[in-house]
Amino acid sequence: MTLLHDAALAEAFDRGAGSYDRLVTLNPGYHAQLRRSARRLAQAAGTAGNRVLDLGCGTGASTAALAAALPRARIVGVDASAGMLRRAAAKEWPTRVCFVHAPAEDLAAAGVHGPFDAVFAAYLFRNLADCDAVLGTVLELLAPGGRLAVHEYALSGRRVDRAVWSTVCAGVILPLGAATGNGGLYRHLRRSVGEFDTAPAFAGRMRRAGFDRVRVLPLPGWQTGITHTFLARRPPERPGGAR
Ligand SMILES: C[S@@+](CC[C@H](N)C(=O)[O-])C[C@H]1O[C@@H](n2cnc3c(N)ncnc32)[C@H](O)[C@@H]1O
Repeated sequence: MTLLHDAALAEAFDRGAGSYDRLVTLNPGYHAQLRRSARRLAQAAGTAGNRVLDLGCGTGASTAALAAALPRARIVGVDASAGMLRRAAAKEWPTRVCFVHAPAEDLAAAGVHGPFDAVFAAYLFRNLADCDAVLGTVLELLAPGGRLAVHEYALSGRRVDRAVWSTVCAGVILPLGAATGNGGLYRHLRRSVGEFDTAPAFAGRMRRAGFDRVRVLPLPGWQTGITHTFLARRPPERPGGAR
């Protein structure tokens, strides 16, 4: 099976939207880990974290984590899947939260413009056909000095972590996907993680895109060495307009 991208992936998420929230509750620590990454973003952004973009917000789990970590921020959640977004929008939100249906590759056409003080992308980058292009878009959307947090399955590079991931896929993720009629999406999950950058490689990709202060932080539980928070900053402008 080839990896799903763009319209095919959005359709797979549309089909999986109804069971998504139920399935993630079977993943121990899913919400707690999103909250941890959102707090890390809030700490890095400081009081500047006023206007925040949640890219690939899905059914709103990451948006809820952001809303808790940044209680005064105006948050825009964006997703390419209409089905996932409908689930998000049907939940109760404070008025400072809104949702937009758009692919990360074409935000301007949907009226999503910067500057944002902070951008969060949880479980998005691994799904993109062109990570570098979207990192470039995020850099441009951020205000100078603004922060990006990427929460992502990105293996450490150690053989033991790859082996744990394979075991979890074979024993839990693939059987669950098959049992719930989401086999395609969960095969995509296994493969996309296996083929995605390791954590050090993704950190290098962020630096090459123009971010500085790139940090890779571990997450606790079975995801240690498998899922990480990546923090980065759009460099502030120097006097005279140069970055
Ligand atoms: C695994 S879900 C994660 C959702 C949410 N961030 C969370 O943490 O629960 C990934 C989401 O990314 C969205 N997505 C994938 N590719 C996208 C793209 N190119 N542009 C925007 N959203 C995309 C999918 O539709 C899906 O809702």
